[in-house]
This record gives sequence, C-alpha cells and structure tokens, in this order.
Amino acid sequence: MSRMSEAMTMDPAASARRAPLKAAIIGMGKVGHTRARVIAERDDVVLVAAADVNTSAAAAYPGIRFETDFRGIVTDPEIDVVFVATTNKVAPDVVCLALQHGKHVFCEKPPGRSVADIERICAAEAANPGCKLQFGFNHRYHYAVLEAKSMVDSGVFGKILWARGVYGKMGGTDFENIWRSNPEEAGGGILLDQGIHMLDLFTHFMGDFSDIQSIVQTMHWDIPLEDNAFALLKTPANQVAMLHSSATQWRHKFNLELCLEEGYITLTGILSSTRSYGDETLVFARKDLDGRTGKPGNPQEEQMFFDKDHSWELEVAAFMDAVTKDQPVKWGNSADALRAMKLVFGIYGVGR
Ligand SMILES: NC(=O)c1ccc[n+]([C@@H]2O[C@H](COP(=O)([O-])OP(=O)(O)OC[C@H]3O[C@@H](n4cnc5c(N)ncnc54)[C@H](O)[C@@H]3O)[C@@H](O)[C@H]2O)c1
Repeated sequence: MSRMSEAMTMDPAASARRAPLKAAIIGMGKVGHTRARVIAERDDVVLVAAADVNTSAAAAYPGIRFETDFRGIVTDPEIDVVFVATTNKVAPDVVCLALQHGKHVFCEKPPGRSVADIERICAAEAANPGCKLQFGFNHRYHYAVLEAKSMVDSGVFGKILWARGVYGKMGGTDFENIWRSNPEEAGGGILLDQGIHMLDLFTHFMGDFSDIQSIVQTMHWDIPLEDNAFALLKTPANQVAMLHSSATQWRHKFNLELCLEEGYITLTGILSSTRSYGDETLVFARKDLDGRTGKPGNPQEEQMFFDKDHSWELEVAAFMDAVTKDQPVKWGNSADALRAMKLVFGIYGVGR
C-alpha cells in the first residue's frame, strides 16, 4: 500500500486518540501543583486549563487558561480529562459536572463530605459509562505498600489474621483556622482527611468489613470536628483491623502491621513531601515457634527501605492507562471510594 493510500485509510478518530489528551486541574492548591508536575512529565496528556477561586497560582502557569469558576472549563468540549484537587465541599459538584460532560475524572480523596456525595458521584458515573473515574488513594502506590500487597497476595504467609494501623499528624499552628477544620468545607476531621488512607489500605488488604466499633473524640484542638478516632473493624471472616487516626500525633507517624497465619509484615514510615513521616521501611518475618532462626518470639527479620515516592506518578499512570486503553480502573475506583466513605461514616456513626 502506498503512503498516500495508507493515509487515506487511516481512522481519523484513532489518530486523534494518539494526540495528548487535554487536561484541566480544578483546585490549584498544594496537591493541584503536584498533579500539574506529574502531568507535565507525561506525553499522553497535557495541561491546558486550571481553575481556582484563588488566582495566586495562575502566575506559575503562563500560557494556561486560568479561571476562578470551574464550570466553564469543566463543560468545555475541548477538555478530555479533569483532575479535581479542591476542598471536600466542592469536589462532588466538579466530578459530577465533568462526568455529565463526558470527561474522564481523577479526583483526590475524600470523594466529598458524606456517603450521599459519593453515591451521587456513582450515579453520575453510571449515567456516563464511557468516562473513567479514579480517586487519589495514592498510598496504594507507595513502594512499601506495593511490596506488602504482592507478598500478601502471593499467599506465602497465609491469610491475614489482623491488622493494626496508626496514622497521625500534629495538626499545626494554623490548624484551627484551615478549611480542614471547618465542618462546612471538610465534612469530617482527621479520620476523613487522613485516616481514610489507612481505611482504604485495610480494605485493599482485607476486603469488606461488616462490624464496626469506635471512639471518635475532639481531645485537644478547638475545632468542631474530631482530632482523634479509634476504630475496631471485623470482616465476615473474623479478621480484625484496629485503627488510630490522630491530629495530636506530635511526631508524625505512619505504621501498619499485618499479622498473617505464617508470618508478619510491618510498614513503618511513609514518604511525603516534608519527609516528616520518615522513610518507608518494610519488615517481614516468618513465624518461628521454636526459635530456630532467632530467640523464640524474636524471629529473624528481613527489611526493605524505600527512599523514593513515585506514588503520584504511578497512580496517574494507572489512570491514564485506563483512559487510553479503555480498561477498568483497578485501584481507587468508585467502589473503593464508596467502601472507604461507608467505613468513615460507620466509624462516626457508632463512635460519637
Ligand atoms: N493523596 C494524598 O496523600 C493527599 C494529600 C493532601 C491532600 N489531598 C487531597 O487533595 C485535596 C486538596 O488538598 P490540598 O492539600 O491541595 O488543599 P489546598 O487547600 O492546598 O488546595 C485546595 C484548593 O482548592 C481551591 N478551591 C476551593 N474552592 C474552589 C472552587 N470552588 N473552585 C476551584 N478551586 C477551589 C482552594 O482555593 C485551594 O487552592 C483534598 O481533597 C485533600 O484531601 C490528598
């Protein structure tokens, strides 16, 4: 076939699909900037527009359309993909509008301020089945978590008996005044903001939980939202997960222990931009009842250290794969988001 006839038989839609998709970011705060950096590193998507009620970010993106009202951008037929990094109050409206206008959507966690918010989003997704929708549960993509997940799934240590997760930060000097401490903007306190990541990891490793016990309290900060949440969760198979989510953890902490039938896996630290949670460490050992590899109760451990955080890049890569290859969203899909929100609000429901 000649070059000319090849060109004439080319499917214009297919060639259009190969061009970088046009993306917009709604909410250009801390995470919006991170998303912009990750998008800039890719060749299958290009940032063409952004919206934020605060215009201070605009100067950092010359040549990009910048508006204070997200609606014009989200409904623009030129935009293919919308990244949502706003406050919790705004996110569901942006997601639903974008889906209704045929956009693929990547939205940060949490997916709103209530279970009703994520249910509304699920309905918009169901009405627009051609659109991909993923939520930013980026902890699944941290290297220590990826290693732990493949170890658990390999079955080498048997089934999980219990999990114990601590995720805490200190709040901060301005903590009482930020949107995260305002019920109208946030919808929940530290559990919805940060603890939701640990709940998502619990479901990632253990599946659904059917029983919830909890204590949810405001212990220290002068805010009308919880600054500490303690929860005990049980699966239908009697596996138990224990969570402490805290905004009074004066030294930042991330710790997830998984106890399995034949051994254990402990994740300590999680890489963040401030590095205040420490490097990621994964320790694992096979149980050793008679002390062959160490003293009884003190088995020989193996350790892995991770000092790079590519979670933001890996999760956007997974999302863009789903979009460009028309594959289902594997992790952070709407079912995962709904499950996490039901746990958060289940914990609130019995703990207050
Ligand atoms: N995956 C993670 O580890 C992680 C980490 C931090 C934050 N997040 C999530 O990312 C989201 C943003 O958090 P952040 O830390 O960047 O907060 P931020 O306060 O830095 O940014 C939020 C931005 O949204 C903007 N905004 C508010 N209302 C708007 C509207 N109507 N239209 C357009 N923009 C609007 C604000 O002006 C602000 O710039 C939150 O949902 C948060 O939970 C996820």
